[in-house]
Amino acid sequence: MLLTMTMAAEAKVTVSKAAFGKMPDGTAVDVYTLKSDSIEAKITNYGARIVAIRTADKAGKVGDVVLGYDSLAGYLADKKTYFGAVVGRYGNRIAKGEFKLDGKTYQLPQNNDGNTLHGGTVGFDQHVWTAKQTADGVEMSLVSKDGDQGFPGTLTAHVKYTLTGNALRLDYSATTDKDTVVNLTNHTYFNLGGVGSGTIVDEDVTLNADKFTPTDKGLIPTGVLQPVEGTPMDFRKGLVIGKHINDKYEPIVLAGGYDHNWVLNGAAGVSKTAARVHDPKSGRVLTVTTTEPGVQFYTGNFLDGSFKGPGGVVYAKRTGLCLETQHYPDSPNKPSFPTTELKPGQTRHSTTTFTFTAEK
Ligand code: GLA
Repeated sequence: MLLTMTMAAEAKVTVSKAAFGKMPDGTAVDVYTLKSDSIEAKITNYGARIVAIRTADKAGKVGDVVLGYDSLAGYLADKKTYFGAVVGRYGNRIAKGEFKLDGKTYQLPQNNDGNTLHGGTVGFDQHVWTAKQTADGVEMSLVSKDGDQGFPGTLTAHVKYTLTGNALRLDYSATTDKDTVVNLTNHTYFNLGGVGSGTIVDEDVTLNADKFTPTDKGLIPTGVLQPVEGTPMDFRKGLVIGKHINDKYEPIVLAGGYDHNWVLNGAAGVSKTAARVHDPKSGRVLTVTTTEPGVQFYTGNFLDGSFKGPGGVVYAKRTGLCLETQHYPDSPNKPSFPTTELKPGQTRHSTTTFTFTAEK
């Protein structure tokens, strides 16, 4: 009896590996399939990306709820969306691609209207990570050399994906050999109705945040932590995304929808609920918990239909939403924001978990 139970518990998550394609230089890239009794997640070591998450709706129908491609070629052809990727060394924006550290000024590639976005021209999303299969997941590792994209210090990053039942957990860690800055996140686009089901504007979102960081027109935070109270940014009690997404409210106009950092309630470094997304049609619910102090809620405003997914599905405007748990954008230039600095001897840890359920 005991033996059977142990075996059943062990059989809960299976991990398998398959070829996903080849880089232009011939390097082989793989895809790992993590399977529990309720979720199947596919992760590739190209950009340490989440390729697919298959989960049931309220009627028990299984569907893929993340935007992506079915082979490496799709990802290589798309340098714009960051589908599913771990972005780094610095997720989101650094103003003018410039920051000072220990009295020295560092210049990064300005790949987004004069600013640096998601780590520069060749960010972590475009690297082949080293993958190590674990009992219930896969661990991705990357060494980014001193001077990579202009950042100081050799940075060693690990992202461990672990599947437990209906929860996919991401444990990030990073170390350096020189003072540097680091902000790792995951850029998965979710569509709880399933890929190809249309836009996400009818999904409702709850964000555990009393404040957000308003920006200039280049989406660089002004430095102010602004209360959401009485604004279209107030998601504390749940809000249908489409309700205010086209409002003439300045932050929304500047971003073309939602594309902002919310300041999460609760202490940084401690796990707390960041967000909850519910799709009334399918009944699927995504809950995001994190130890990070912020979350970038982005409604896929820049998706323009130029990329197509499996079966020819068109990735059109607002057909996916991102919940990028993070330190605030442009922190290296904002001394009042929680620091993104990392020194030799320190390890930067963070954990984010995506949990999927369905409501009748
Ligand atoms: C982040 C940014 C957006 C956009 C996407 C990628 O979410 O905040 O402005 O650049 O990445 O398209």
